[in-house]
Amino acid sequence: MHMKRIYLDHTATTPLDPRVLAAMTPYFSSTFGNASSVHWFGQQAKIALERARAAIAQAIGAQPGEVFFTSGGTESDNFAIKGVAYAAKKKGKNHLITSKAEHHAVLEPCEHLTENGFVLDSLSVDGKGLVAPEHVKNAINDSTCLVSTMHANNEVGSISPLQEVSRIARERGVPVHTDAVQSLGKIPVNVDELGVDLMTISAHKLYGPKGIGALYIRRGTGIEPLLQGGGQERGKRPGTENVPLAVGFAKAVELAVGEMKEESKRLASLRDALEMRIRDECPKVIINGHPTNRLPHILNISFDSTKISLEGDVLLMNMDLRGIAVSSGSACTSGSVQPSHVLLAMGRDEKTAKASLRFAFGRSNVPEDVDFVAQNLHAILGGMSNP
Ligand SMILES: Cc1ncc(COP(=O)(O)O)c(C=O)c1O
Repeated sequence: MHMKRIYLDHTATTPLDPRVLAAMTPYFSSTFGNASSVHWFGQQAKIALERARAAIAQAIGAQPGEVFFTSGGTESDNFAIKGVAYAAKKKGKNHLITSKAEHHAVLEPCEHLTENGFVLDSLSVDGKGLVAPEHVKNAINDSTCLVSTMHANNEVGSISPLQEVSRIARERGVPVHTDAVQSLGKIPVNVDELGVDLMTISAHKLYGPKGIGALYIRRGTGIEPLLQGGGQERGKRPGTENVPLAVGFAKAVELAVGEMKEESKRLASLRDALEMRIRDECPKVIINGHPTNRLPHILNISFDSTKISLEGDVLLMNMDLRGIAVSSGSACTSGSVQPSHVLLAMGRDEKTAKASLRFAFGRSNVPEDVDFVAQNLHAILGGMSNP
């Protein structure tokens, strides 16, 4: 008999939507040309590539010429941060601002730059995981070349006061980069409304293929390419264009943004139902993240170490044995037993941070899943605690 399996880790990745697969398929074989070739084969590929770029640009309120395809969120974050930093250094600027709750794909390039003459201000976040615009204001100086802070947090879902941060930074002429990998397709994402100059997005978080993302770069933003080569992507990101993945990415974005309103409402009701069950049944639980200003699909809980002693990884394994896939922190750091840097930055103690679980709902989830998960969590906790 097949075991019932429930996937609740949609922040780590999502399955490819069959409609996306159908859109991509011809570009692996029949329309296979190199988009940079001048002949007919190349032009067919080029048309598809530019159509994909235009669709993505439209979905985020950008011009097609401001969208650059990359290999994913990690590359886009690296490109934005190092690319802007290298360009700014030539103008004598060497100061960067970010926050302690960013994804590793932002934190690591920022740290890396400090080994190369840059000065980094990594701002504290509050108990909800949010940076205070006032702190950004105080941190900006005449050498500041970039503020990078995420739109919504991948671990706890809190949505940042990005518009306010952007307004403050732009008043001082400082460009703003945001990582919108988790927010696109869940809440409205528009580069002008958010007031950002650079924005990272990735396909595999919204039912598109893995290995493709994009960086939005507002016209006029000073940025250097990280790669040198054949001049593709208007010289900013050389390498033969990945047409099938770009086509799939665009289809996934169109679907996710088009269906967002209803789907986000549905996800929030599933998430809220599980939150209510857990609150009722496990009084020792803390709900992480902003209570209302939060992505609709994420529920992150911690077991208070002053009341109960639990290991998140053990909980995760027990859930997995019962067919429930969740995460005990950021998927990108799983395999390591380090407590989540986001939860620590939010003020959780190390033991409580380690005793955390993240549930991330998605398209495959149905109301019955809530019952199944709540019952199993209850049974596991009953077996683990206070023997
Ligand atoms: C907020 C955020 N940024 C960046 C990434 C990395 O994206 P990719 O897997 O496309 O490199 C992730 C994926 O976990 C993420 O959640």
